[in-house]
Amino acid sequence: MSDTYSDRGNKDRSIANPRPGGTMTPSPGTGKPVHSGNAFLIGDTMTGGYGKGPDILHDCTIAVDPGEIAVIVGPNGAGKSTAMKAVFGMLDVRSGSVRLDGEDITALSPQDRVRKGMAFVPQTSNIFTSMTVEENLEMGAFIREDDIRGTMEQVYELFPILKDKRRQPAGELSGGQRQQVAVGRALMTQPKVLMLDEPTAGVSPIVMDELFDRIIEVARTGLPVLMVEQNARQALEIADKGYVLVQGANAHTGTGKDLLADPEVRRSFLGG
Ligand SMILES: Nc1ncnc2c1ncn2[C@@H]1O[C@H](COP(=O)(O)OP(=O)(O)OP(=O)(O)O)[C@@H](O)[C@H]1O
Ligand SMILES: [Mg+2]
Repeated sequence: MSDTYSDRGNKDRSIANPRPGGTMTPSPGTGKPVHSGNAFLIGDTMTGGYGKGPDILHDCTIAVDPGEIAVIVGPNGAGKSTAMKAVFGMLDVRSGSVRLDGEDITALSPQDRVRKGMAFVPQTSNIFTSMTVEENLEMGAFIREDDIRGTMEQVYELFPILKDKRRQPAGELSGGQRQQVAVGRALMTQPKVLMLDEPTAGVSPIVMDELFDRIIEVARTGLPVLMVEQNARQALEIADKGYVLVQGANAHTGTGKDLLADPEVRRSFLGG
């Protein structure tokens, strides 16, 4: 995609999901949950922590609709990854719920959530380094019994470098290329929703822009993208909606644009 920076992002409302319940009432700065109760994927007022440990999340709500990129930002240790893991079923939610396309999936295992159409790229250990790029993509399709060749070609079209390197061990790739493998692997299940935890971690600004462009491209096909980002400003630029989490709770919620314009968000989280 060769758009200029200001043209980037998912601002073309024509591709946004027309579902009536999916629209968000922004409440920037209020800290109140947004009205996303009918969102395609929602972790709704989730409270919970790890094992028998203390609660990390406190009535935390994150959600995404088709055609959207929803971005979660916040300080280190705020619980962003924990919120993603909770939505994916990797920790017990003590109260609140997770719903996918109207179905309560709070009790499902991560494996069963994958079968329901969820794909999750965790923050760390998100590829098999000793396996080739192509083997990683094949592993991604483990739940499928149909022909995966077409999907693999789509992944190679999205990330052409992966086709060139398909016979190389994924561990030999650069940081940005590994992230492409991780996202590509997630897409191999033909998911209904894509969850990414810091897809641009540790890459240069140019590679970050490139990855964001690919993520925008994916979102424009209608696939909802819920992602955590350390590069808050750049991520909010391309976000249809954003969540600022602080100490496991929603501190600010709104459109990416609203959050970027919010003086309190700017001062506290975006460096002024
Ligand atoms: N597996 C775990 N077991 C116990 N506590 C954990 C575990 N993972 C994270 N925590 C704790 O949960 C809190 C939130 O961590 P989390 O990783 O969700 O934050 P984060 O917002 O993703 O941070 P970062 O920006 O550094 O990725 C921290 O206090 C952390 O110590
Ligand atoms: Mg994290």
